[in-house]
Amino acid sequence: MSQTWVQAANLLAAVLFIFALKGLSSPRSARNGNLLGAAGALLATGILFVSGIPLNNLAFIIAAIAVGSAVGAVSARRVKMTQMPQLVALFNGVGGGAAALISVIEYLEVGSQDRIALAATVFTVVVGSISFSGSIVTFLKLQELMTTRPVIIPAGKFVTILVAVATVVGAVWLVVSPQAWLLVALLVLSLIFGVLFVLPVGGADVPIVISLLNAFTGLSVAASGYVLQNVLLIIAGTLVGASGTLLTREMAKAMGRPLTSTLFGAFSGTTAGGAGSGSDRPVRSASPNDVAIMLGFASKVILVPGYGLAVAQAQSTLRELADLLTEKGVEVDYAIHPVAGRMPGHMNVLLAEASVPYEQLKEMDEINPEFSSTDVVLVVGANDVVNPAARTDKTAPIYGMPILDVDQAAQVVFLKRSMRPGFAGIENEILYDPKTTLLFGDAKDSLTKVVAALKTV
Ligand code: TAP
Repeated sequence: MSQTWVQAANLLAAVLFIFALKGLSSPRSARNGNLLGAAGALLATGILFVSGIPLNNLAFIIAAIAVGSAVGAVSARRVKMTQMPQLVALFNGVGGGAAALISVIEYLEVGSQDRIALAATVFTVVVGSISFSGSIVTFLKLQELMTTRPVIIPAGKFVTILVAVATVVGAVWLVVSPQAWLLVALLVLSLIFGVLFVLPVGGADVPIVISLLNAFTGLSVAASGYVLQNVLLIIAGTLVGASGTLLTREMAKAMGRPLTSTLFGAFSGTTAGGAGSGSDRPVRSASPNDVAIMLGFASKVILVPGYGLAVAQAQSTLRELADLLTEKGVEVDYAIHPVAGRMPGHMNVLLAEASVPYEQLKEMDEINPEFSSTDVVLVVGANDVVNPAARTDKTAPIYGMPILDVDQAAQVVFLKRSMRPGFAGIENEILYDPKTTLLFGDAKDSLTKVVAALKTV
C-alpha cells in the first residue's frame, strides 16, 4: 500500500477517535461513540499489516490479537453492569502495562536510543507500570476482594517517599547512562509505587483514582508512540491522557476536595477514620404497606437512587412507582449525586434504560435546596452519597464530599437489605434518626410490593 494511503488511513483513524470521544460525552450518543472508537482501533491495527513495516513473529502477533479479542469480547458480554468499573480498571491497567512492556522490549532490541527517545522510554515504563499495579489494586477494591477502606501500612509515608525518590533518581540515571538492569529495576520500583500510591485511598475516592490512572495510561501510550515512531499511538494516547485529566479534575471537584487531599490525605490521617459498622442501636423499620401510605399521602417526594438500585436492577420498578405517584398528583423528582453507583453517570445511564425523562433528573446543586420542603425522601440503595458524616466527621473517609441533604426532609425512607454500610465502609447516622424508616429487602422486591400497595391506597 502506498504511503499516501497509509497516512490517509491514519488520519481517518485519528478522526474516528476524536468523534468517538465526542459521542461518549452524552448517554444518548455513547453507543455510537463507542462503535466509532472501536472502528478507529480496528483500522489502526489493520494499517500496520499493510503499511510495509517489516513484521517479525507474525504468527505470535495474530495469536495475541485473537486471544485478546476473544477475552475482551467474552468479558464485555458477560460482565454485569454493576461490575463495569472493575472491568474498566482492569482494561486500563493492561493498557499501561502493555505500553511499559513494549518500551522495555524496544529498548532491549534497539539498544542505543537518543536522549529524547530514552526519556520517552523511561516515562512509558514508569507511568505505565504505576498505572498497571495501581489499577490492579483499584480492581481488588472495587471487586471487594480487599477492604475498601484506606490501607495504611506502617511507615507508609516514609516508604512511599523513599520509593518515589528512588524511581526519580533511577529514571534520571538511566537517561544519562543507559543500562538494561536499571530499566528492569525501574519497572519493579514503579510497580511498587503504584501499589503504595493507591492503597491509602479510601473507598469513596476510588472513582477519582480510576480516572487519574486512566490519564496515566493515556500518557504512557502517547510516550510509547514516540518510542515506536507511531503517530496514531501518540494521538490516541494524548486524547486518553487529556480526557482522563479533565475527568479527574471534574470528579475531584464533585467530591469537594483537592486531588492532593484525596491521594495523600490518608498519610496525614485525614481520611483514615470514620465510624465503623456493626452498631446494634435500634432502628425503625416498616412494611411496604406503611411506605406506600407515607408516599401516597405526600405532596412532594424525592427519589434518591444509588448503587443498590443497579444491583437490584430495579430502575423500571422505580419508574413505575414515580409514574404512579405523579398520577396521584404527587410532585416527584430524582436526585442524582455525581458519584452515586460505581461509575461516572451510572444513575443517568440506569434511569435512561428505564426511559425516565431527563427533565425529572436533578443534579445535586439543583435539588439540595428542595429537600427542606419535601415530605418524603425515598433512598433506594444509596448510602455514602447521603451520609452526613461527610459534613460533620473530620475523620471520615468521605469528609468534605458534598452530599444530598436528605436529612433536611420531613421523612426519610431507606430501601436496603441490611445494616451494612456503603462502599466507604462507614456507618450512616441518618439510619438511626427518628424521622428515618427502613424497609429491608432487595430494592426490586420492596419496590414491587410498594407499587402493589400504592395501587390500593
Ligand atoms: P453505597 O454507599 O455503596 O451504598 C449502596 C447501598 O445499596 C448499600 O447501603 C447497600 O446496603 C444497598 N444495596 C446493595 N444492594 C442492594 C439491593 N439489591 N437492594 C437494596 N439495597 C441494596 O452507594 P452510593 O450511595 O451510590 O455511593 C457510591 C459509593 O461508591 C461512593 O462511596 C462512591 O465514591 C463510590 N464509588 C463511586 C464510583 C462512581 S464514579 N460513581 C466509582 C467507584 C466507587 P445493603 O447491603 O444493606 O443492601
